[in-house]
This record gives sequence, structure tokens and C-alpha cells, in this order.
Amino acid sequence: MKSYKIAVIPGDGTGPEVIREGLKVLEAAAQKSGFKYETVSFDFGGARYLRTKEVLPPSAISDLKKFDAIFLGAIGHPDVKPGILEKGILLKLRFDLDQYINLRPVKLYDERFCPLKNKTPEQIDFVVVRENSEGLYKGIGEFKDKDSLREVATQVSYNTRQGVERCVRYAFEYTKKNRKRKQLTLCGKTNVLTFAFDLWERTFYAVAKEYPEVKTEYAHVDATTMWFVKNPEWFDVIVTDNMFGDIITDLGAMIQGGMGIAAGGNINPKGVSMFEPIGGSAPKYTGKNVINPLAAICAGAMLLDQLREHQAATWIEESVKKVVLTKIKDLAAGQMGYSTTEVGDLVVKFL
Ligand code: IPM
Ligand code: MN
Repeated sequence: MKSYKIAVIPGDGTGPEVIREGLKVLEAAAQKSGFKYETVSFDFGGARYLRTKEVLPPSAISDLKKFDAIFLGAIGHPDVKPGILEKGILLKLRFDLDQYINLRPVKLYDERFCPLKNKTPEQIDFVVVRENSEGLYKGIGEFKDKDSLREVATQVSYNTRQGVERCVRYAFEYTKKNRKRKQLTLCGKTNVLTFAFDLWERTFYAVAKEYPEVKTEYAHVDATTMWFVKNPEWFDVIVTDNMFGDIITDLGAMIQGGMGIAAGGNINPKGVSMFEPIGGSAPKYTGKNVINPLAAICAGAMLLDQLREHQAATWIEESVKKVVLTKIKDLAAGQMGYSTTEVGDLVVKFL
């Protein structure tokens, strides 16, 4: 029997509640599919930081490297200044584990949950491949003459040929292997960011030569947001930099029905990947058993896909779809018609 080691970081706010349901579904999928896994829980997050004054213990990265995958709830605490936990935990894990891809599927399961008029599940079904290790997230910049009238703040977008190429290549491979339409759109801003996206564009078309079966397109990021709303059916796979990927995937999450259903994977194809619901820690719903666990459950399915347990991943996805289509009243917290626990139970039942 195949056996995996999964590190679990329930994290802050509603993180532990949605992870609990995610693990419940993972366990059911493992039994049905015939594989085993063991979990080790890590208490990283705001509460630990406030208690110990340390964002991550020094051994965190080397400890996590010993696992086959990481399942993350949410990081973010109302009593901690913005930036500390994000940079100190989430971004540090992404960077130090070299999870250079942030894979974010945008898939509408049911028309009822789309805020756009007359859009069907067939029309909203695309994937964003977000570069996850460079760009504006690199943290390069400075203040000059801080707090004076002459103050200047710079923040540099750092793009290496190697970093861009590995991301673009992943996107081409992904499109070729996983998508029927095989259309890959580079989302950039070549008309203004004439250094960064020049490199992206040159790299994109150079790699494209190796993938004649993939149809290539280009869209500026501003036009991309327009089309997400106007004709999302135009997209199949999108590849973009870290910052643009961050922004357009929140919009993507909204057109697929909201944060309650949006999942993502921070992927190191040759190392340890980390899967998470992309909504935050939702502190106001903490402990109420009303948060939607489907995003975490879908993140669990993505985790299994990464472990090559494709059948189990598909079962979870199909079961989530059934729950969404036949049971759920609304994907928003508190309005599902079921509690967090009950939604997890329903997914297990349909599995
Ligand atoms: C996300 C989040 C993070 C990001 C924050 C919390 C640092 O918004 O995963 O999209 O900007 O990447
Ligand atoms: Mn974001």
C-alpha cells in the first residue's frame, strides 16, 4: 500500500475548521482508493507568533522538506501587524521551499453562484499559472529620505530568465497535458513594463517553439480583468507574474463563486508542494462552524493530484460538484444551509 507523509498547518482563524473537513475527506478518499498517509501538525501562525515572538522556528524549512506535501489552512491574525505573518510564514515557505508555481484553477460548478449574468460552467473553466518566487514579491526596494517631503519609495520587480522560463515551461507542459483546448495566454503589460514583460514575452515565445500543439495568445493585464467579466470563456490557461497573478486570481475566485470554493497549490515540481484554500483566515467566523470548507477540500484534491493519486482527486472533485449542485444554498459563510461539519460530511457521503 502506498503511504505518504503530509504536513498539516491549520494556521489561524477558520483555518483549523476547514482543514479538519479537508482531512476528513482525504481520509475517506484514502480508504476508498487504498492508500495510506500520516499527518504531522505544525502550529505556525499568528497565535504561535504572539506567544513566542517567533514567526517560524529555525528548523521549519528543513522539517517540512521531509514531507510529501503540505496542507495549509490560513495565515493571518487580527492582532498582528499586516506583513509580518504573510512575509514571515506564507511567503517564506513559498520561497524557501522553492514553490515557484502558484496554480489556481477557476472553475464554476453551478450557474447560481456566478455573479456574472448568463455565464455557465462551460464558460468559466480556466487555470491561472502564477509565478510564485520572483517579481514584486522578491522584496527588493528602499525608502530614501523617509518621512520627509522628498521621500521616495521604490519596489522593484525582479525577473530572471531562469525563473520566468521554468514558470512558462510549466504552463506549457500543464496546458499540453491537462487541457483539451490547449490554449495558453501570457498575461502581462508589455506596453508599459517594457523591461520585465519584454523578458516574459521573449521567453514565452521561445518556449512556445517546443510546444507546437499549444495555441499561444497574449493579453495585457488590464484587458484580462475586463475579459474575466465580459467573456471568461475566452481563457483556457493563463501564465503571468506574481503580482498580476495575485490580483487576477481574486477576481477569478469571485466569478467561480467566491472564496468559499477557490483553492490553490504552491508547487515545486521536484520538491514539497503546499496546498491551501486561497481565502484568508476569516477571523470573524472563527469557531462558529459556518465557514465553507469546500475550498480546503478542493485544495486537498489538488494535493492528491500532485501525489499522483489522480483517481482519488477526481472522486473528491466530483463529490464536491454534487454537493454544490444538489445541496448547497449559497457558497458564502453562514449561508450554505449547512454547517462546516455537515458540508464535509456531505462530501464524504457522495464519495
Ligand atoms: C495569496 C495572498 C498572499 C499573496 C498574501 C497573504 C501574502 O493574497 O495567496 O494570494 O499575496 O500571495
Ligand atoms: Mn492574493
